[in-house]
Amino acid sequence: MTVQDTIYLSDYTAFGFIVEDVHLTFKLAANATRVVSRIQFTPNPDSPSRDFFLHGEDLNLKWAKIDGADVTPDLVAGGLRCAVPDVAFTWECEVEIDPEGNTSLEGLYMSGGMYCTQCEAEGFRHITYYPDRPDVMSVFTVRIEGDMPVLLSNGNPTTSGEASAEWHDPWPKPAYLFALVAGDLRNYPGQFKTMSGRDVELNLWVRPGDEGKCAFGMEALKKSMTWDEEVYGREYDLDIFNIVAVDDFNMGAMENKGLNIFNSAVVLASPETSTDGNFERIEAIVAHEYFHNWTGNRITCRDWFQLCLKEGLTVFRDQQFTGDMRGHAVKRINDVLTLRGRQFREDAGPLSHPPRPDHFVEINNFYTSTVYEKGAEVINMLKHLVGDVDYKQALDLYFDRHDGDAATIEDWLKVFEDATGRDLAQFKRWYTDAGTPHLKVADRFENGTYTLTFTQTTAPTPGQDDKKPRVIPIAVGLLNPNGDEILPTQILEMTQDTQSFSFEGLSAKPVPSILREFSAPVVLERETSPKEQAFLLAHDTDPFNKWDAGRALARETLINMTQGGTADQGLLDGLLAVARDNGLDPAFRALALGLPGQDDVASALSARGITPDPDKIWRAHQTLKQAIAQHLQDVWPRLLSEMATPGPYSPEAEPAGKRALHGVALAYLSQIDGGAAANDAYASAGNMTEQLSALACLLSVEKGETALAAFREQWKEDRLVMDKWFGLQVSFASPETCVEIAVNLTHDADFNWKNPNRFRAVFGALMMHHAGFHRADGAGYDLLADWLIKLDPFNGQITARMSTGFETWKRYDADRQAKAQAALKRINETADLSRNLGEMVTRILGA
Ligand code: TRP
Ligand code: ZN
Repeated sequence: MTVQDTIYLSDYTAFGFIVEDVHLTFKLAANATRVVSRIQFTPNPDSPSRDFFLHGEDLNLKWAKIDGADVTPDLVAGGLRCAVPDVAFTWECEVEIDPEGNTSLEGLYMSGGMYCTQCEAEGFRHITYYPDRPDVMSVFTVRIEGDMPVLLSNGNPTTSGEASAEWHDPWPKPAYLFALVAGDLRNYPGQFKTMSGRDVELNLWVRPGDEGKCAFGMEALKKSMTWDEEVYGREYDLDIFNIVAVDDFNMGAMENKGLNIFNSAVVLASPETSTDGNFERIEAIVAHEYFHNWTGNRITCRDWFQLCLKEGLTVFRDQQFTGDMRGHAVKRINDVLTLRGRQFREDAGPLSHPPRPDHFVEINNFYTSTVYEKGAEVINMLKHLVGDVDYKQALDLYFDRHDGDAATIEDWLKVFEDATGRDLAQFKRWYTDAGTPHLKVADRFENGTYTLTFTQTTAPTPGQDDKKPRVIPIAVGLLNPNGDEILPTQILEMTQDTQSFSFEGLSAKPVPSILREFSAPVVLERETSPKEQAFLLAHDTDPFNKWDAGRALARETLINMTQGGTADQGLLDGLLAVARDNGLDPAFRALALGLPGQDDVASALSARGITPDPDKIWRAHQTLKQAIAQHLQDVWPRLLSEMATPGPYSPEAEPAGKRALHGVALAYLSQIDGGAAANDAYASAGNMTEQLSALACLLSVEKGETALAAFREQWKEDRLVMDKWFGLQVSFASPETCVEIAVNLTHDADFNWKNPNRFRAVFGALMMHHAGFHRADGAGYDLLADWLIKLDPFNGQITARMSTGFETWKRYDADRQAKAQAALKRINETADLSRNLGEMVTRILGA
């Protein structure tokens, strides 16, 4: 990438014109859709610029007029320029586009015979010429002409006639929230009465045959609407809310105003075809997109550098929602697992960037775990610092002050400063500085006073060598050596590089429980004994830290085992106690019995300056699983019967938690019974959760062949279930066979590689199979590189995201590094690489 391709936050200037009104007419045709636009512009008094530049890509311009007179604009790279009057004027033009030929799934494209759109971040410029930037907001009226039975766009429907429909969205919005859908769709209807008594018509639109998978998504939508009214005081603002499920979609879902579009994988569900994990994810994503109506749509972003303003806040809100619906302890543990697995990994490598970056080449490459999940963590810290009451006041002020605005992170922080009287200048570093702080802890006990001394350090990240100290809210509690809590949770506010906090009047040296609830996204480095970790696993009153103590102990054990050690007895006994403790939530027990992933272990080794060996880590993992399976062998059969959930399936948290623990018990038992119990479980499975968990057990002990064939025969017509069939075989393969299995799957007649869900099923599983992907002969690297090169001309968004499989390549030994580097270079040298993948590979390769 060359320097001039880079876009900088510091270069921001407002657009030279205000868009007063937009009228669009779509004449749909699969290969030659015509889009006629009529747009009212006025010079913007707040901008010095009078450069009339409209974005536009892959458009065939038929004609253009200003105030009714023909004009001939200058077609330039990425758009057009035109001489315009210095007063208000009307721009009109007609373009032709080719939805069927659009494989990038950005702009207007076709999926399974229906027309649909994806405009965030910069897709609208593939539909017509327009100032395609989020700070240009306008009211849209859309007319759709086409012989499809269902014609949808944003806002409220106005008229519908013979083969046409018109929609009007009264709320000014940026172009990235525009949407259009047309197809032969069936609707699953619903109703909602808002808190002020307005009736809203709800619809979930699906392809014929999918009507039976809508009920759960519709319920999730109603719950989300109620929750946002009760918790944030936010009411829905149109007469109708439509959700559409499409099969070909680059990400999860999109919050287009009044017309959310979803990847069918994250909205369609039935007990027979969806796992508990699918149900929980669907509920969270439906909520996420709905919550965007206020955090994203009514208040949007000034520019794409501010992406975490809407995404961080909306993720934070959907996390709160899921916690309220399904239990906060387990939700927090799951969120931290995701954060550590994805964001810490990103932050420790060449792709590290701040939640608010200050430059980019391709904005699509910044829809990252750092922007989303760390963006949410930063808000969680803010809430810890100011408290619940002030958080609520600040949010009320935010909605009040910025409704209708395209806002910035500065606006967001100012609201908190004004509502609470705090100075957040230092806190702002969380938004502008990349990298995960490491927090070292030392302690001392003297004359009844216990002192904790913390030191924070953040390693340099690309382009940011010098790291200043951040404000870190550290939630701490103290336990007596007998296990009683003597100091309930309090928040220590760390602001310096090194800082001490003392607790007086104690009769014995306490055991500290530090970073409760994971109150800040940092790596805690504390030299403790396995005994103390086992003590916290047994006694900590904070469920997150109770779980994390077990996790840390398991990680240390795995690390020792890669260096020839054996399983820690304290861990085995601790897990036995947890497994048997019927007072603990089954979902919590399932999480506590799970082992840290192999990538996690590799990252911990690498942070200590030890080169991770994927094969040794794999073997340590296998050996520890065996040891736990044997040490707890009496518990498994008991859990299998206690955690059975007979009767009709319900996706609620309670039975789902039981099924999770049942699945964990079955997985361990399979390690010692050769798959006998899993065979029975597969035969008697009453829902997809049970069926898939049994199949995974069978695959992991290499007894899956018969079940796999039966599974395919049963589900060959269901594309979402078939994605699971593809993915599972790679995920549960041995390191020796994983690449070959993936290769075989690419030859399968149902391997429709241009469908992102199917591509991800195979290659997402491959890149997450630690020992398989990082196989010593480089076969994993080569296979992923081959397929990224193959898909890139069709869909650069997917290839760019999947290239992150390589982001950890510098952790490994010289041989592996050379092989990964060769694969990356081979991608980089490919002609006509997409800007998306080009930027990613350049950054991953590093300077
Ligand atoms: N804004 C969407 C969300 O977080 C995500 C999104 C951004 C997206 N770009 C996309 C979804 C492209 C699909 C395709 O909810
Ligand atoms: Zn979002």
